[in-house]
Amino acid sequence: MTICVNEEYRPCLILGLETSCDETSAAVIADGRKILSNVISSQVPVHQKFGGVVPEIASRKHIENVIPVVDQALKDAGVDLSDISAIGVTYGPGLVGALLVGVAAAKALSFAASIPLVGVNHLEGHIFANFLGQPEIVPPFVALVVSGGHTSLVHVKDYNEFTLLGQTRDDAAGEAFDKVARVMKLPYPGGPHIDRLAKEGNPEAISFPRALTARESFEFSFSGLKSAVLNHLNNAEQRGETINYNDLAASFQAAVVDVLVSKAINAAKHCRVSRVVLAGGVAANSQLQDRLKAECRKENLVFNYPAPVLCTDNAAMIACRAYYQYKAGKYASMRLNAVPSLKLGAN
Ligand code: KG4
Ligand code: ZN
Repeated sequence: MTICVNEEYRPCLILGLETSCDETSAAVIADGRKILSNVISSQVPVHQKFGGVVPEIASRKHIENVIPVVDQALKDAGVDLSDISAIGVTYGPGLVGALLVGVAAAKALSFAASIPLVGVNHLEGHIFANFLGQPEIVPPFVALVVSGGHTSLVHVKDYNEFTLLGQTRDDAAGEAFDKVARVMKLPYPGGPHIDRLAKEGNPEAISFPRALTARESFEFSFSGLKSAVLNHLNNAEQRGETINYNDLAASFQAAVVDVLVSKAINAAKHCRVSRVVLAGGVAANSQLQDRLKAECRKENLVFNYPAPVLCTDNAAMIACRAYYQYKAGKYASMRLNAVPSLKLGAN
């Protein structure tokens, strides 16, 4: 077993494993923040024809991919399994069958090579993606986590101390993007397509609702907005009107972004922190990045977001989160199991 003590300097290497949804990913990082490899095998083309992720197919694909992806990650990093100090694996939240594949693989590797195992919360992983390649970022800060399955505001007080300020009551922001894209007949996942169309559209063309806008509310709701878009489309169709899809995308996106930005700024003020970070797949949205950057500057807040490849699901962020748990002695046992509805800060 390799332990991170520096008699003679050896980097602390963490192997990360991520299989919570439709990406099979393995990564090796050094000393918590340096990516040596980050292999991502995406199943998007497999699920695209169904318009969303099919859980059974996702599990089967993970089984096929997981060991080749781990082998490739070790090879790309130029290291052997025996060089690894700890194995971090996503054990929730996510699709149970998909999570189980990663957890079983990580347990087998940990047991066979006597390497400590660390169970990682996927949402915490998304937040920690910000630490990769950005050494200046240290807690405390407020994180806005916006992915296909989650929309949460989190007060990150320290590396292992989080408070959930609020989350969505219904649809996640990414889910709203994907559902609206689906009715616009755009391919899955729809977020990047709406982002692209919105660049050519007028965000004020259609007035869509903004929910739960009270200043001290850190909860979100996007299902009403999704219905409003559907109604708009149905009404236009019934009246025989031509739909301007660029304006529709821009107006929908503006409604999502307005709420996310104002709540993130209010949360930072509420927690008296000077930094806001963005995390999760929707963090790749260009309008969200631009608006948060501008609003943070106005409020004298520092704003960060991860590199595009680190916004969507990847194992480097899981390895980064695992590093800080490992340093704090927070190991998992061989009884580690998948927890599909794992709560933030539950480690
Ligand atoms: O974090 P992620 O890879 O998976 C989950 O943990 O859910 O997020 C995927 C979500 C999808 O809903 C996708 O449409 C959305 O992120 N997404 C975007 C953009 N890129 C990805 N949404 C809006 N704009 C984007 N540029
Ligand atoms: Zn994710």
